[in-house]
Amino acid sequence: MTFALAELLQFNVNADARGDLIALEKGGGVPFVPVRVYYIDAPRGVRGCHAHYNLEQLLICLRGSCTVLVDDGETRRNFRLESSDCGLHVKPLKWREMRDFSDDCLLLCLASAPYDAADYIRDYDAFLQAIAAQAKLKL
Ligand code: TYD
Repeated sequence: MTFALAELLQFNVNADARGDLIALEKGGGVPFVPVRVYYIDAPRGVRGCHAHYNLEQLLICLRGSCTVLVDDGETRRNFRLESSDCGLHVKPLKWREMRDFSDDCLLLCLASAPYDAADYIRDYDAFLQAIAAQAKLKL
């Protein structure tokens, strides 16, 4: 399902009596080349609260559930992730906040670039300024 803010991707499930196998590869579930994988086990409180200048991410709730708020500076929308067979594709310059974690939540992130603290926008006003600067470039 495509939303203006982020895309909720449904993965192909290889289901048999032994369980569900889900394979992700570029062109087959992942819209970019993942070069970094990290996961947050038993997240609590509110996480994220930042945007990225360049990074693309695919967020997958492997176990349990959580809510991801995505904000493009004009519109915000909550996405509930509660199944390991779907992922939320978040593009650059989108503010995200993750919250409402179930106790057993295991949140996986595939990322398009190595960790780079300089790619983070952690201040919401700076995020709005970055959006405005991008809009000017497109004029
Ligand atoms: P942080 O960005 O605060 O997590 P979240 O956005 O989910 O709230 O990251 C927590 C810590 O982990 C911080 O010290 C940076 C470190 N970190 C890495 O070393 N590598 C990574 O790939 C990520 C995402 C974070």
